[in-house]
Amino acid sequence: YLIGIDVGTSATKTVLFDEKGQVVVSASREYPLYQPENGWAEQKPEDWRDAVLETISQVVKESKVSKEDIKGIGLSGQMHGLVMLDEKNEVIRPSIIWCDQRTGAEVEDMLSIMPRERWIEITANPPLTGWTAAKILWVKKNEPENYSRCRHILLPKDYIRFVLTGNYATEVSDASGMQLLDVPGRCWSEEVLEKLDIDPALLGKVYESCEVTGTVLPEIAGKTGLSVETKVVGGAGDNAAAAVGTGVVKDGTAFTTIGTSGVVFAHSSQVTIDPKGRVHTCCCAVPGAWHVMGVTQGAGLSLKWFKDQFCGDYVKEAEKEKIDVYDIINKEVAQVEAGSGRLLYLPYMMGERTPHLDPDCRGVFFGLSAIHTRANMLRAVMEGVSYSLSDCNDILKEMGIDVEQMMACGGGGKSPVWRQMLADMYECSVKTVAQTEGPALGVAILAGVGCGLYESVEAACEVLICEDKSTEPDAEKSEKYKNYHQLYKKLYEDLKGSYK
Ligand code: XUL
Repeated sequence: YLIGIDVGTSATKTVLFDEKGQVVVSASREYPLYQPENGWAEQKPEDWRDAVLETISQVVKESKVSKEDIKGIGLSGQMHGLVMLDEKNEVIRPSIIWCDQRTGAEVEDMLSIMPRERWIEITANPPLTGWTAAKILWVKKNEPENYSRCRHILLPKDYIRFVLTGNYATEVSDASGMQLLDVPGRCWSEEVLEKLDIDPALLGKVYESCEVTGTVLPEIAGKTGLSVETKVVGGAGDNAAAAVGTGVVKDGTAFTTIGTSGVVFAHSSQVTIDPKGRVHTCCCAVPGAWHVMGVTQGAGLSLKWFKDQFCGDYVKEAEKEKIDVYDIINKEVAQVEAGSGRLLYLPYMMGERTPHLDPDCRGVFFGLSAIHTRANMLRAVMEGVSYSLSDCNDILKEMGIDVEQMMACGGGGKSPVWRQMLADMYECSVKTVAQTEGPALGVAILAGVGCGLYESVEAACEVLICEDKSTEPDAEKSEKYKNYHQLYKKLYEDLKGSYK
């Protein structure tokens, strides 16, 4: 048996799998997202820790599997978040997470320290507001007290590794998103650390994603019911993990995920870079390979926001009927025609990465009429997120990345109506796999490779992952969306000076 843990933005999910990749038991815990200011986003690492320990205990107990049979654990999680520990290993301040946009000035500082081209040469990406380096500089500048107490810098899932194993370590896929890694060379960049004046001793050791990074501490074994023999492998950032969990491990394969963020991700056996920096290039979980991904900041976040603010009745109905509230929303949205009656939504609630790299823009509803209903607005939100994902997909095409197989995953990937929008806008089939656990399955597979149960990541995916549904594009809707997509793009251009 293997455990996959995904420390997400809305919840942590822990899943126990058998060797065939079948789910034995799964458990999840939600936690809050704090937004102390417009554009800021923080979470408490202690909430992640509690959620992980509680869900591990729950799956171990409910599965009744003997602890010696749980061979390995893989960790996955939201990327880029900054966790700082003091000399007693206490968390110094809440984690500034991936979608936080406070670091515009720090990105400017980074560009004044080293030319953009050199950043791209080393880290494969231009300085980005959401990435960890800019957050470190922000704390250094704005909270020098906190920075001077900092002894360890970790990413969200790597803080969990520290809790479980006592080791300070990371792995190449997540470390790529810190902007401190030499991405082609898959190791910390001395040059970048020196330029930013960050002590290398603050950072953990970098592993490949399927390498073993430690075993479970006796105290944690006692608390959770795990064995001290259970190995914890490197794991991967949530997107690189989802790639393994959907079988996206060779050239020509890609996926779109809609979680809190939305991502279009393509595997690449070469380091492939967008010179304009609109999509990210990172190491992937397959040793010796990379990936390119475009990111929509507010994907599921937009729909969840709309549901929380305006769909209280659906939430109550779902609770009463014991169904998923998003099933009710999907049904409503399916009743509205493609194009939402010329109502458009720009999903820039937390600024936008692909294609704008703009921390200051915000969400927009455009074209509201008294004829529109809540269902139009819900559909507009889903379409707006899909236009943004289409922007990501278009850039991959422009870069010459050939995608023969596009998978869909994440909460939004489970929605047939959302998959149809993607297929119509991308003008290609969008497929799902039968195994819906995405990142958790991906890192469980990495754990299996690390423990010697599977020969390689690719070989494991070949036998464990199988295709399920295929959604085909509808030419008429594709045409309609093309026109609206032009208007969507024009709206950003027209409005971009008005946010500050
Ligand atoms: C990727 C990114 C997000 C987070 C959220 O660059 O920031 O996809 O990993 O889960």
